[in-house]
Amino acid sequence: MKNELRFFVTSGLLSLAAMTMYSEDVNRLVVNSEVKGAEIPSTMYGVFFEDINYGADGGLYAEKIKNRSFEFPQALMGWTTFGKVKVKDDGPFERNPHYVVLSDPGHPEKRTGLMNEGFFGVSFEKGEEYRFSVWARCETDHGSKITVELIDPSSQGESQVMASVDVEIEGSDWRKYVAILSPSETVKDGRLRIFLNSKSAVDLEHVSLFPVETWMGHENGLRKDLVEKLHALKPGVFRFPGGCIVEGTDLDTRYQWKNTVGPVENRPLNENRWHYTFPHKFFPDYFQSYGLGFFEYFQLAEELGSEPLPVLNVGLICQYQNWDENVQPHVDELEPYIQDALDLIEFANGDTLTEWGGLRASMGHKEPFDLKFIAIGNEQWDEIYPQHLEPFVKAIRSRYPEIKIIGSSGPQSEGEDFEYLWPEMKRLKVDLVDEHFYRPEKWFLSQGGRYDSYDRDGPKVFAGEYACHGSGKKYNHFNASLMEAAFMTGLERNADVVEMATYAPLFAHVEGWQWRPDLIWFDNLQSYPTSSYYVQQLYSTNKGTNVVPVTMNGSWVKGDEDQNGLFASGVYDSNDGSYIVKVVNTGKTSQQLEIELKGLNDLEYCETIILESFDGGDAENSLSNPSKIIPMKGILPTYGNHVNAEIPAESMMVFRVAEKK
Ligand code: AHR
Repeated sequence: MKNELRFFVTSGLLSLAAMTMYSEDVNRLVVNSEVKGAEIPSTMYGVFFEDINYGADGGLYAEKIKNRSFEFPQALMGWTTFGKVKVKDDGPFERNPHYVVLSDPGHPEKRTGLMNEGFFGVSFEKGEEYRFSVWARCETDHGSKITVELIDPSSQGESQVMASVDVEIEGSDWRKYVAILSPSETVKDGRLRIFLNSKSAVDLEHVSLFPVETWMGHENGLRKDLVEKLHALKPGVFRFPGGCIVEGTDLDTRYQWKNTVGPVENRPLNENRWHYTFPHKFFPDYFQSYGLGFFEYFQLAEELGSEPLPVLNVGLICQYQNWDENVQPHVDELEPYIQDALDLIEFANGDTLTEWGGLRASMGHKEPFDLKFIAIGNEQWDEIYPQHLEPFVKAIRSRYPEIKIIGSSGPQSEGEDFEYLWPEMKRLKVDLVDEHFYRPEKWFLSQGGRYDSYDRDGPKVFAGEYACHGSGKKYNHFNASLMEAAFMTGLERNADVVEMATYAPLFAHVEGWQWRPDLIWFDNLQSYPTSSYYVQQLYSTNKGTNVVPVTMNGSWVKGDEDQNGLFASGVYDSNDGSYIVKVVNTGKTSQQLEIELKGLNDLEYCETIILESFDGGDAENSLSNPSKIIPMKGILPTYGNHVNAEIPAESMMVFRVAEKK
């Protein structure tokens, strides 16, 4: 990650540390190193990706051309055409049959061609290379020529053209042509323009433009800066592809993973429900090209070192949008949905001689992806959900007993549906239950102890979607992150029952968002992590291997505001023998801490990381000020097995200590 943590030592921390503090005002944290509690699952802190806020097309997926296959309902959406341009529908790709024909305009000074507006512009950078590709054929065997340009529409005349290349189209059969463009300037809101440059007509299909430098250099690749930010989170699990888009507004628009694999040119377009879900955030050009499909998701999970966690449709379309149960598939009609789930497991893990394992191999991954988890259903509720889930559980258990199944507790964090679904999930013996909570500050402050009393013998918890949505304020301000940090001490203390947790949503384009807050924001050229991102990172990169018990002022840490606004958790890290204590001060005043590592002798060091806002709880990072709130590293002296510190008001601190060898 480029945005390195800054090093600092505060003089205040050092001077306070010089004394052993036993006054009334000192909060005494005792970390019992003699007890190595529950193992912290490797999946504990992960990421959840959904194509919302232009997260995939126009975001993570590095394709710069919108409607590259002319398959949007309005075939030329995103394109401006000039001269003699026709759309035809008998192209080489069965599931994407449309293409354009550029013909001679009939006069040497006239022009035929088309121009793509990209996603909020076609951006390109000086010094970078871009791979243009197109499927094309020409009318005659004499050949045709096109000129491809990257332009800056805000400049005039020839100076508009930032890169240009001629592509000779050689025959009357469909072939793929590739050319590299190297722009002379950086432009955020540019265009791709194509001219016919010959007498004979040319047919063009699947017009594509990618940066050459994508994450890991994949040609059908992902934006490097965005994946680097994911990589720096060290996510233990990668949940995809949603979210509500799994369900669809109707049956046709549900997410069908089989449409997202195989050659990209032949992956059919799907509507993206977020194009119209919020009428005040209407994006009529928001579709899913599926260029980022299940193969790419599995590959990304592997490259991130995360467990892949696909979510599949349970044979129910979005219940928010389809209140009438009669429009839902009947429980007797689930066979194709269940088969999709079984086939997906074969796609991920199957031998290359199997149908779906063979497809995976043909896409470049002979080895299995080692899928261990599958979620069936997203935010479902009422009796219809367990009725639908049950046959999936039976079929998956019987064929793939090693796969862990994740069920849902619905969209609410408590209440009637939640109370109904948890026992149902236990009855069905799913392995984990997905809980969602987009809740205000108060909720997060009161829920640090949420999992203390959960049944240890039932399914584990997957906190699959959560974020503090400030009451009144609903954006990525620091105070919301602080609430999440406080709440997460409770996840960590309960690592024996909470197996995974993923903040949501992950990405948002500054010009194309539908939902906020989000973890990472971007425009076409840049991106920045929010303060919530840093909270996630402080947990995931300091997650340790075992929970250790912590008391505060003589009582177990509880996970609510009553302990002077302090929240805490402790872990042991068997990798280096260190102990890590996380303390979150949600109060308005700084607090003195005395941390004792019971059972240890002399401590060798105490490294600290602090996350705080110097501009108050409303401050947030932004494209223009991406580092306003970032974690800062420091060191503190140790006294025997003690560390003394002052934790500032409204801040999170991580202390890492180890015994002298
Ligand atoms: O994360 C945004 C949406 O919130 C998800 O699609 C859905 O599961 C939840 O309602």
